[in-house]
Amino acid sequence: MVKTIELVDGVVKMLDQTRLPREVVYVDCKDYHVVAEGIKKLWIRGAPAIGIAASMGIAIGANDIKASSYREFMAGLEPVFQTLLATRPTAVNIQWAVDRTRKLLAERKDEPVDALKVFLTEEANRVLEQDIEINRTIGKFGAQFIKDGDTVITHCNAGSLATGGYGTATGPIRVAVEQGKKIHVYADETRPVLQGCRLTSWELMQDNIPVTLITDNTAGAILRKGEINLAIVGTDRTVANGDVANKIGTYSLAVLCKENGVPFYVAAPLSSIDFSMATGDLIPIEERGPEEVTHIFGCHIAPEGVKVRNIAFDVTPAKYITGIITEKGVFRPEDLHKLNQPGADLDSIMMKAKG
Ligand code: MRU
Repeated sequence: MVKTIELVDGVVKMLDQTRLPREVVYVDCKDYHVVAEGIKKLWIRGAPAIGIAASMGIAIGANDIKASSYREFMAGLEPVFQTLLATRPTAVNIQWAVDRTRKLLAERKDEPVDALKVFLTEEANRVLEQDIEINRTIGKFGAQFIKDGDTVITHCNAGSLATGGYGTATGPIRVAVEQGKKIHVYADETRPVLQGCRLTSWELMQDNIPVTLITDNTAGAILRKGEINLAIVGTDRTVANGDVANKIGTYSLAVLCKENGVPFYVAAPLSSIDFSMATGDLIPIEERGPEEVTHIFGCHIAPEGVKVRNIAFDVTPAKYITGIITEKGVFRPEDLHKLNQPGADLDSIMMKAKG
């Protein structure tokens, strides 16, 4: 499995995903501004991966701070936090990384600044390692819903490349394959940035997982033919009522699945769940520049001067979602908020595959 990101000797090494699958190139980010640029320009993308990149950006930003007290150190970190938070608004994972850092540092406010810097580097590496473990657990919980011989459809890339490794939506797929199940994946191309085409189909092929690439507008026809058994997608932000923000086109796929009686699952690590937001209508949705729509790899394909709307994410209402696969188990969207209730009996509400 290809490495998405790592932190080596104070340098964040980031796989430039905009060049995949034609070239495998790592960019050395020696400064947190370059990490932020990489997130903005989609060298690294996918909610958990940008959360990890933010943790690493914080660690290298911290190394350059000259401070002799905890207060000075925190003041120095503020522009690092704000620069990273300003990159992409929809995924909650950057906020998650900043909140986690603030909390962990507050617990260590009596330690010397040099020790805090070392701690942040160790912490960024821990976030990466834990993410891979979480994805494996999501994989185990989700694989029960994939039967031998099933065909799974996915949208965008919620695979190893979108995470520290293993992937969220690809977690159950990978575990099912490890269990010896013969499965097939349909990957939506995912216009305009083509994450399904360039990334998902590439990473699955690297790992010998059978995959068929389709254009986004083919999904309905294939679903109607009865050729798909279930859908699994990732999420950038899932909120308390079970509404899910994910790559533009996810909502259309979910509606098509419902119409055709196909279960629709969302793989959501807790780092992508925002319990502070009541409904999906509150999620900030990123809109990107027109070039992603008017150009393909530098080639202008649209009429000069045409008006463009490039909405990067949509919200799928909870009513279209069969189950949300987390590292704590699989839950109906209406039960999701109970994960945030201390002492809730999660076993009694966990979804389990029949048979
Ligand atoms: O614009 P992107 O490529 O960052 O969008 C990524 C997605 O929508 C993924 O499905 C989501 O982040 C989940 S990744 C495990």
